[in-house]
Amino acid sequence: MKKLAIFGSGSGSNMQSILDAIKEGILKAEIAVVASDNADAYILERAKKASIPTLHIDCGEYVSKFPKEEQERLAADLKQRGVDVICLAGFMRLVGSPLLKKFPNRILNIHPSLLPHYPGLAAWEQALADKAKVTGCTVHYVDDGMDTGAIIKQAEVPVLEEDTSKSLHERIQIAERTLYPEVIAQVMNQ
Ligand code: GAR
Repeated sequence: MKKLAIFGSGSGSNMQSILDAIKEGILKAEIAVVASDNADAYILERAKKASIPTLHIDCGEYVSKFPKEEQERLAADLKQRGVDVICLAGFMRLVGSPLLKKFPNRILNIHPSLLPHYPGLAAWEQALADKAKVTGCTVHYVDDGMDTGAIIKQAEVPVLEEDTSKSLHERIQIAERTLYPEVIAQVMNQ
């Protein structure tokens, strides 16, 4: 059974969809650990409820930096747990060489836009500001840039005239819940 690590900083709805896909037998994998840089993140509650081990990612005083030493410590820890694939799910720090070298082409991210459009923060607000007619979500391999890695698969979501930031993000997240488990299954079989 392939082992996944999930990194998240927030609510963890994507982690939940991965867990649900495993329970339904759609995804043949095990979540070995859920890691967060935010001790109050709801993703950790979800993991605890499902009896999944959790890890705190200690970034000290840094608000957005992911210190190299911490990445090295995590890489060694994840290897020891037998992790095959790392899934970023709302993880708001840039992963760098210590993790990328240990998990080449084995770190995935989900982003709430049709990349290369609207990388970075609040991508759905960028789509609204741009008056885009269609946006969506993308699963891609992680490289050392921000949302720049090779695209694996995307799902389109139409932008409605009455959309608010909240309604558009909610519809994108519904699309994310199907796309991410499907792509993880595809990558695990490669
Ligand atoms: C998701 O919409 C994900 O696409 C986005 O954060 C949200 C996390 O939700 N990620 C990014 O913006 C990364 N650049 P979740 O914690 O409920 O899964």
